[in-house]
Amino acid sequence: MTMRNKPNTESLKQTTTFTDEAAGASSKGATPSQSFRARDRRKFLKGGMFAAGATVLGAGVAPSRLLAAQDNDSAPITKGDIAILRFLQALETIEKDLWQQYSELGGTQDNEVSGLNGGNVPYTQALQLLDGDMPQYIHDNTDDEISHARFLANYLESIGAEPVDLTPFAHLPSSKADGARQVGRLTNLTQLTIDTSFWSQYRSITNLDFDPNAVFAQAVPSLNAGMHTAIPRSNDDTAGSVINPDPTQSTFPDLLKAIAFTAGFHFAFIEEGGTSLYPTLAQHVTNLEVLRILLSIGPSETMHFQTWQDKAGNATPLTVFDKLNNSSVTFTDLHAAKGETDPESLNGDTLQANLIMPEPTHFLNPKFGPVAIIRPTSTKFGGAQAAVMSFVKDGLFRGQKPLNNPELVRVLMQLAEEADEARRQL
Ligand SMILES: [Fe+2]
Ligand SMILES: [Fe+2]
Repeated sequence: MTMRNKPNTESLKQTTTFTDEAAGASSKGATPSQSFRARDRRKFLKGGMFAAGATVLGAGVAPSRLLAAQDNDSAPITKGDIAILRFLQALETIEKDLWQQYSELGGTQDNEVSGLNGGNVPYTQALQLLDGDMPQYIHDNTDDEISHARFLANYLESIGAEPVDLTPFAHLPSSKADGARQVGRLTNLTQLTIDTSFWSQYRSITNLDFDPNAVFAQAVPSLNAGMHTAIPRSNDDTAGSVINPDPTQSTFPDLLKAIAFTAGFHFAFIEEGGTSLYPTLAQHVTNLEVLRILLSIGPSETMHFQTWQDKAGNATPLTVFDKLNNSSVTFTDLHAAKGETDPESLNGDTLQANLIMPEPTHFLNPKFGPVAIIRPTSTKFGGAQAAVMSFVKDGLFRGQKPLNNPELVRVLMQLAEEADEARRQL
């Protein structure tokens, strides 16, 4: 694996040239009147903003600051921007790896997502207990992650920076169940410890950034202890299923149901991480095009999260002990959680399943009133290092060597530190 953590000045120069050329190319295609209109509009907006600033904001904001912001649209791509892009490209590669495993076993099987191997029918149908469209959603989330990783790698190359290559770490074993390809993996989906407090974080008025000591209830407390598999490890985990062409007529052993429900919560956990990560890192970006990339990919993670937290809430009550992981899991009916909810609770104990829209929460200053937002977006809780640590705690890298400080985690943490250290340079 080759990594260029400190791009030299030459590559940064290339970067600037690329950005300028790209800007020139786009204006070349415009007709003279379009160019004039664009220039004219910018001039107008500049003047208009000055006027609006003076009228609406009064003496609180210096007009020079507003003008300065306009003039910095052409800020070059910085070393920090590249650090952020390289970290995101590495993390998207991790996402791609885990989603490919889910898609091979539980996604719609077609030619769009490469490497699908016929699927695992009992697991795919068990996932449909959460929603009949789960296979399509799993397929499409995978497709999205493949595109995120590929786009970021291609973009890095286009600006003279080297993408991160994680293939030397792809040595974890595949599931032995029908449908899984037998290739090396970066991630382990069979020994997870899933923090399901994201559930109450978005249902509470309390914001982790605002109150770091806040306690957020777990949607499924037993997933946050012990180890749980989110995929069938072998055909033993699907044995006893009675499969019907109509999935609603099929029956499954409780172990397989628990595996499918575990996956449902894991999907939301993963995508909630991306939901916070992009807006957190966007605050450190200097170049406008790089900012556009983060602002364009980030919300697609949020679309994933929103879908998954809606589906996970459809898990049905059951308790299962898994011999292989020596762990129990209990799912409850979160639709029935209405009686114990209190949206204004500072303890974050609201679990009601259909509260999938973000509860307005504290942000910046309580005097502004609660507001519906993505949270957390501080470096401490939503940044790159926080994302890697949450994946480590999740057990995604269990089995990577050496055991206590796996090389893959060391590489990811180094990339994460550099991304978190990036600062806007305007
Ligand atoms: Fe992604
Ligand atoms: Fe994602």
